Amino acid sequence: MEDNPDFGPPIVCQHFDLQAGLIRENAERIAREDQGLHPDEDEHELELPTPPSNSPTPTSILTASSPTLSRVQKKKLKKREHEHKKRQADARLADDDPLPPTPTPSVLAKAAAASPLHVPFSATDFRSSKPRWTGLQTPLEHPLLAYARDVEFLKSHMQYADWAGEKTHAILDSTGHIIGSLIAPPLPGKAWTPVNDDATAAMRLAREEMSFPADACHHRRAYDDEQGFPAAIDGFGFGGGRTDVGNFKMSARHRRAMDKLIARPSIRRTATYGYGPFQALCYPIHSQYYRTTRELRKKHPGLRRLFPRSPFAALTANLGPHSVSPPHADHGNATDGMCLISALGHFDPDKGGHLVLWDYNLIIRFPPGCSILIPSTVVTHSNTPIQAGEERFSLIQYSAGGLFRWAANGFKSDVAWAATASEEDVAAREQARQARWATALKKFSLLKDVKMGNYAGRVRAELWAEAEAGDISDLTDVENEGGDGDDEEEEPLPKKIRCA
Ligand SMILES: [Fe+2]
Repeated sequence: MEDNPDFGPPIVCQHFDLQAGLIRENAERIAREDQGLHPDEDEHELELPTPPSNSPTPTSILTASSPTLSRVQKKKLKKREHEHKKRQADARLADDDPLPPTPTPSVLAKAAAASPLHVPFSATDFRSSKPRWTGLQTPLEHPLLAYARDVEFLKSHMQYADWAGEKTHAILDSTGHIIGSLIAPPLPGKAWTPVNDDATAAMRLAREEMSFPADACHHRRAYDDEQGFPAAIDGFGFGGGRTDVGNFKMSARHRRAMDKLIARPSIRRTATYGYGPFQALCYPIHSQYYRTTRELRKKHPGLRRLFPRSPFAALTANLGPHSVSPPHADHGNATDGMCLISALGHFDPDKGGHLVLWDYNLIIRFPPGCSILIPSTVVTHSNTPIQAGEERFSLIQYSAGGLFRWAANGFKSDVAWAATASEEDVAAREQARQARWATALKKFSLLKDVKMGNYAGRVRAELWAEAEAGDISDLTDVENEGGDGDDEEEEPLPKKIRCA
């Protein structure tokens, strides 16, 4: 990666005319869009936010008024419905709180129990665009890319994580930073199967209820020579040279089908159970997502919120029935961010549907009903094909990098910002740009910090002021790891790792 001309060292002072650069970049984006090309990552049209409408309330699969239930069952369901309403009310209150929420003790305990999954990669090698808000469009060069669909070949030539989907794992880089996570569903084994079955049926129904033109199945996240799959995008974004943030546009027919899909309890459960692990394992990144989406919604109350407590701005529903993607990176998303992928469907996860993380040289068994968190902007990823007659769907949650840039500009586009910026503003912005990558890398948490309860990754000096030395001995160990005096040779990683 050092040979890649697009990937310069993290902090280099170079003089250039920022305002002219921004205007040029914006003009190029609009020109690409006018030519019908993808202007940025968000190739879907945006609409200006409208005041919030009454979003559909989630309907239970069964309700307490159902005549087929016994009195005891009705009582239990009523209690569950009451608890669900209370959680929703709490979520609404949390949205009004300017401070990012702190992980609950149970979420922290589960995150602290995450098993490490070491990969031979350093977060300093993440590939980013020069302004550091989004990723690179140039593909990763990997010697095995030609074998992307050959699952057995990849298993024998890459590190293979044989994940059963029963335990949560943190993917760690060479210095112990969390650069991804395999997130187990909240119910073990077969107890989660009915949720996956219902969510799969919901995805199938959404596909039937929407209507797609013939070419909608073919895009850069689908193999050219296969049947492809359509995708529906909801939520909000920013990009394409436009001047404001907005909700993704969709037809009334798609809107109805999408509202029904995201209101389905099984879809909500699948999409949201990863939020807790995301918050506890990647607290600085989660907080940044939380703060920015909250600020954006305050600024534009019409921006759509998809799920309670969601830190993400957007959702892509890959509507199958064969949702598998060739190697790609989602370069329009936030560079120092995370994307939550939830797999659904009925397929044999030993034979297909694996997630391949090319930068990490890692192939992961990815069972239906499970979720994986990855920095999809800077990591080239793909799926292995599923078998004929099987079906695979996926839910992808993410935020566009342009949203963070727009918020950092004081809620305006680069061009609008440049039009009113003073020389001092321009100088300060350039300084911030140079520091952004180093700052971004610090947002990846250390698993050792999470395990000792320091999920926010506070520096040792702060902790010394509040704690006894014994409380932070683990942190001292972390700091010593990889230090100048540490010349121990790293043991080679095992080829195959069995993950519960
Ligand atoms: Fe992707």
